[in-house]
Amino acid sequence: MEIMADKNEWGSNLSFILAMIGSAVGLGNIWRYPYVLYSNGGGAFYIPYIVAILLMGIPFLILEYGVGYNFKSSFPKAIRKIHSNWEYLGWLLPVAVFMIMIYYSAILGWDGIYMILSFTKGWGANPDTFFATTLLQSSDSMSGLAHFIPIIAVAMLIGWVIIWFISHRDLEEGLGKVSKVLVPALFIIMVIIVGFSLTLPGASIGLAELFNPDWSLLTHFEIWMAAFGQIVFSLSLGMSIAFTYASYTSDDADLITNTISIALANSLFENFAALGVFSILGYMSLQSGTAVADLVTQGTGLVFVVYPTVFNVLGQWAYVLGPLFFLTVYLAGLTSILSTIEPLSFSIQNKFGLTRSRTMTILVIVGAAMSMIYATAYGGELLGFVDTFINQIALLFGVILECIIFAWIFKAEKLIDFLNSRSKTIKVGKWWLVIVKYILPIFISIIWIGGLIDVINTGTMEQLNFTVVIALLLLISTGIFTIMPAKNPEWDDTEERV
Ligand code: PHE
Repeated sequence: MEIMADKNEWGSNLSFILAMIGSAVGLGNIWRYPYVLYSNGGGAFYIPYIVAILLMGIPFLILEYGVGYNFKSSFPKAIRKIHSNWEYLGWLLPVAVFMIMIYYSAILGWDGIYMILSFTKGWGANPDTFFATTLLQSSDSMSGLAHFIPIIAVAMLIGWVIIWFISHRDLEEGLGKVSKVLVPALFIIMVIIVGFSLTLPGASIGLAELFNPDWSLLTHFEIWMAAFGQIVFSLSLGMSIAFTYASYTSDDADLITNTISIALANSLFENFAALGVFSILGYMSLQSGTAVADLVTQGTGLVFVVYPTVFNVLGQWAYVLGPLFFLTVYLAGLTSILSTIEPLSFSIQNKFGLTRSRTMTILVIVGAAMSMIYATAYGGELLGFVDTFINQIALLFGVILECIIFAWIFKAEKLIDFLNSRSKTIKVGKWWLVIVKYILPIFISIIWIGGLIDVINTGTMEQLNFTVVIALLLLISTGIFTIMPAKNPEWDDTEERV
């Protein structure tokens, strides 16, 4: 046990905070948030957004951290201690998060290819066709699964090697050190990109469009849903990541203050990203005469189509801005993907007594092999299905599950004295209990049902079939981990720190 604790412990509070920020700041901040802000009332969106951070983001993170810190063990081990029959629920989230890892690796691979292409604007005059047809060779028929695209596979495998290189080391030697370098670097590069974008002619057109508040939307339920959904994804809530990271901390952490720093840094980054994205869209709008509203998009369309289009008209500066931009996306994606392997890895180490290094090696090999399904012509389509399943169904379910198990069964009350005794900033009390016990589970359940109905109503037959297959895969692999007999004699003795 001693040896394992050493290998899975942060060297300092700074490593913990920066790794957590690294997990939070990811593709969601760059390609999702600007669009969400724009399409949900612009400036008016800040009201539901701030409410979502104060009412959900911070209180929930405090809970997830508090319980993780208390158990100093992996998620399923702690859940077993809370309720001896519930180990299955404990494996569900780490396995779901590992599924995120597998499809995130595809996006990372695509971005790596674009980073290289950006030195020569290698996507050509028509970025749209280049992305969908030349690179991904997209096919929306399942027969595309038989069509393998080696260049994407190679790009993804490079990502897996980097992940392995960092993750198989002891926690502080790998993830801790890397976070201390990459997370500040990410912020600095972002400042440079945004600073430059703001000076482009037309930037103010984009920004005016972005912030132009539509107050009437405040009475619409959808924008509240959008705000809560964004915060869940962006802060990586309810995925057992925050739990696992807190369980790696040593004994002197001020968890409440850490939470506030992380939420602030995450919001700062995504709002900054929004400034950059819309300045660039404003510039493009001025050059092309197309309205900003017709240019704006999110996801892969923004990063791999709209941005290359902008770089095409940007002249010489594009050779600097392009590589920097794709590097930012790569780093943001990398620091997030590194967090997605931790919960499952720690759980396997705990139950089966394997070392950190060996577990990581096995998981990277399995993940890399499975990710090859995204290196086929059907990969892009499949990635969309998995992404929708994870975002609309699995993650919110994770938040509800954690609220019930932690706040009700474990009893959040038990954490209050401990949390407050360490906190140099705010203290938690009754209001916090009301939020995590009542408001959050009820509110998130409503959003969850809304998302489920949305998937059922808007999904194609193919998407629904695949969603069922993905869900079954998740449930079955979770079952396998639960049923397999433990090899580590310490699996059943979980101590509590609080
Ligand atoms: N929070 C990350 C983002 O904003 C996304 C993420 C989800 C990271 C799940 C890790 C796990 O992009």
